[in-house]
Amino acid sequence: MANQIKISPSILSADFSCLGNEIEAIDNAGADYIHVDVMDGHYVPNLTIGPEVIKDIRKSTNKTFDVHLMIEPVNPLLESFAKAGSDIITFHPEAESNPKKTMGIIKKLGCKTGISLNPSTPIEVLDGLFDEVDLILVMTVVPGFGGQSFMEDQLPKIENIRKMIDLTGRQIDLEVDGGINFETASKAISAGANVLVAGTATFKGGPSQYEKNIKTLRGV
Ligand code: DX5
Ligand code: ZN
Repeated sequence: MANQIKISPSILSADFSCLGNEIEAIDNAGADYIHVDVMDGHYVPNLTIGPEVIKDIRKSTNKTFDVHLMIEPVNPLLESFAKAGSDIITFHPEAESNPKKTMGIIKKLGCKTGISLNPSTPIEVLDGLFDEVDLILVMTVVPGFGGQSFMEDQLPKIENIRKMIDLTGRQIDLEVDGGINFETASKAISAGANVLVAGTATFKGGPSQYEKNIKTLRGV
């Protein structure tokens, strides 16, 4: 069980002055995915990076780019994010009027598709999407900033989504994002998550600690 857990470090906590080196370091340290938080200063009150940066850091690793779009609207920018080298594109369904259509565009662009649920988003938003979705991301903080505290009240939601995924028989990643540390990682895993996003907890202590941090988060 433990070695099925994937760790997706959020590069939001990396040193942006040497981002390429940071990405090589987490790749070598055993990261499974690379979590890229894209914020537009509109859907969330913070501003981060866009497709140009993704294109450049694509040269630093072959690992899966797990791109988390916190932008509104979503559709007009999908092609740029796909062309920049995204592997999985996750969006917030509130940010588009027809999430199923958005998923179709992502698939057509050759990427896997993810749906992200804010702490206040009910699981009913997933109705009718299980046949196509590749990843479900449960936010355990209000999106916008790294370094916030894990919201334990989201654990029952993770458990319920795990049951729904198992009923489909499909390989759908259940990813948890926000406030994951050595303590909350095991709670998220027990609730049924198989992918953990971790920014602060991965990059803590600098490059010499990344391998240890990732191993500890994975629980091995
Ligand atoms: C929050 C982002 C997260 C965040 C995780 O809006 O989606 O990916 O950066 O950071 P930590 O692990 O520090 O909570
Ligand atoms: Zn994220």
